[in-house]
Amino acid sequence: MAGRIPQSFIDELLARTDIVDLIDGFVPLKKMGKDFKACCPFHDEKTPSFTVSQNKQFYHCFGCGANGTAISFLMEYSHLEFLEAIEEMANKAGLTIPEEVGQPRADGNLSELYELLELVVRFYCKQLREHRQTDRAVDYLKNRGISGEVAKQFELGYAPAGWDNLIQALGTSDAAQQRLARTGMIIKRDNGGYYDRFRDRIMFPIRDPRGRVIGFGGRVLDDDTPKYLNSPETAIYHKGRELYGLYQARRANKDLQRLYVVEGYMDVIALAQYGISNAVASLGTATTREHLERLFRATPQVVFCFDGDQAGARAATRAMETALPLLEEGRQVFFKFLPEGQDPDDYIRQKGTKAFQNLSDLTPLSDYMINIAKDGIDLSSVEGRSLFLKNIRPRLELIPEGVIKQLNVQHIEKITGLSADKIDIRTKSKDQPLPRRRPLYKSDSGKMTNTSWLIAMLLRQPDLALLVEKPEILTQSKEPGVDTLHKMIVLIQEIPRITTGQILERWRESRLNNRLHELSSTEILDDENINLSNDFLHRIDTIAAEIKTATRKTGETNLADASEEHKAYLRNLQK
Ligand code: GTP
Ligand code: MN
Repeated sequence: MAGRIPQSFIDELLARTDIVDLIDGFVPLKKMGKDFKACCPFHDEKTPSFTVSQNKQFYHCFGCGANGTAISFLMEYSHLEFLEAIEEMANKAGLTIPEEVGQPRADGNLSELYELLELVVRFYCKQLREHRQTDRAVDYLKNRGISGEVAKQFELGYAPAGWDNLIQALGTSDAAQQRLARTGMIIKRDNGGYYDRFRDRIMFPIRDPRGRVIGFGGRVLDDDTPKYLNSPETAIYHKGRELYGLYQARRANKDLQRLYVVEGYMDVIALAQYGISNAVASLGTATTREHLERLFRATPQVVFCFDGDQAGARAATRAMETALPLLEEGRQVFFKFLPEGQDPDDYIRQKGTKAFQNLSDLTPLSDYMINIAKDGIDLSSVEGRSLFLKNIRPRLELIPEGVIKQLNVQHIEKITGLSADKIDIRTKSKDQPLPRRRPLYKSDSGKMTNTSWLIAMLLRQPDLALLVEKPEILTQSKEPGVDTLHKMIVLIQEIPRITTGQILERWRESRLNNRLHELSSTEILDDENINLSNDFLHRIDTIAAEIKTATRKTGETNLADASEEHKAYLRNLQK
């Protein structure tokens, strides 16, 4: 896919797809009142609290808080990446995905890079079969116990020794060499010309979740350094995001109940050879938030299995810290700790598949968090318990409000003998009903700022925005969120028939995405006594009045700076 998908296409796709039909195809819906209901597909329940609104083109579960647009539903339910969901919806709607026009990227056409890398994969695979020096490579793989089938499944190849094998095969013209250089496979010489980046190495192609080759890892055949060479960051390869083996894991398993995260290419391959086809590796980097988000889109359960050495232990601690903010009901994180000095490759060859799959030696993330915090501490002493609390508090606070956090707090109450309020963690009392995955604000505006309230109202009933005569006044506010409110009002005024789903898709990439989803699920306005339009305008006026006060405080200078139109507007406000 070259470039981005234009927003107008996403709008059209959402306009042509009725979320009710789409979801009904997976989870049969029943009409109840103005909405449609079913038992929630994202958590266990006996009475339906999963609600789909045809008006809003938005779904929401009152039980677990899952919510989103038609695109989000496909991503969550069918474990698809964003672009895959778009593709599937486009197919159903009979639409062809256009590429973003008008803004050609500085680095030109990306699909060209994918196609070229596909040729590179084939070239290296062919060298592994045919090159006159390939015996060393084949022997190496055999010595490491890698079967022909697994080598084929992972498309392992061989980059022959020499400076220009790839160039001779794929890049003899200037233009071809420039293209090849953009894939990172060849390097420009200072004095002109290019040379192959990978020489005399076993090659591991890296595919993205959609199956496109985006880069390579290359391993030496002996003890030379660097042991592994990886593709550089390019227009299509970003280390902190990709997971080696995810594409293969998804192909081998229709429904991924669990994914193992290991450190090395060879670990993924050894596990696959022993029948464990659900392992992925982060590519020589620590586990990032993006990795975890991608993992949780593919599976509900992640098991980190790092090497049994100091580096592996550090990686585990960091993975824990990255995972804490992403914990939600339905997501599970475990650690499998290996014997000192072993990596998953050694372990499975020595102990076998059953031992690797043994679930009883998995450490749940919360146990691991507690173990680290109490390491070396004597919990029988007052000092020990207070030190333990000091260690664990910042980590607990990373967990979002919800059942998982509550359970952890309860566990720590038991360990320390202190009640939650003494533990002093920003959390709700345990006497309250179980909190939801994302907080709901039922008929309780007290918990929300005026601006949040206004945004929630707009997401509930977009045409309220049409009542605002001069949205530009809002641009003068410095209050958090008012800029978003302004953007949303202008957007709706431009596209008056826009649905909540279409509005939300515009913020998908923004850090506000989660918050806006939360606000869309807010049940604030079902009270018949509220006159929506009046309430809405009244709240807008409140913001305008605050702006007025702020302007007055900063005095005339502000007025002097303002445009004529603004001055007139401000004068009117001050009447
Ligand atoms: P072997 O079993 O020795 O082939 O390696 P491994 O798969 O067990 O990998 P190891 O645990 O040594 O390293 C884990 C990962 O870190 C590798 O798969 C690479 O992605 C990365 N890595 C290891 N060594 C290097 C290196 O020298 N340079 C770079 N850039 N990355 C490396
Ligand atoms: Mn290894």
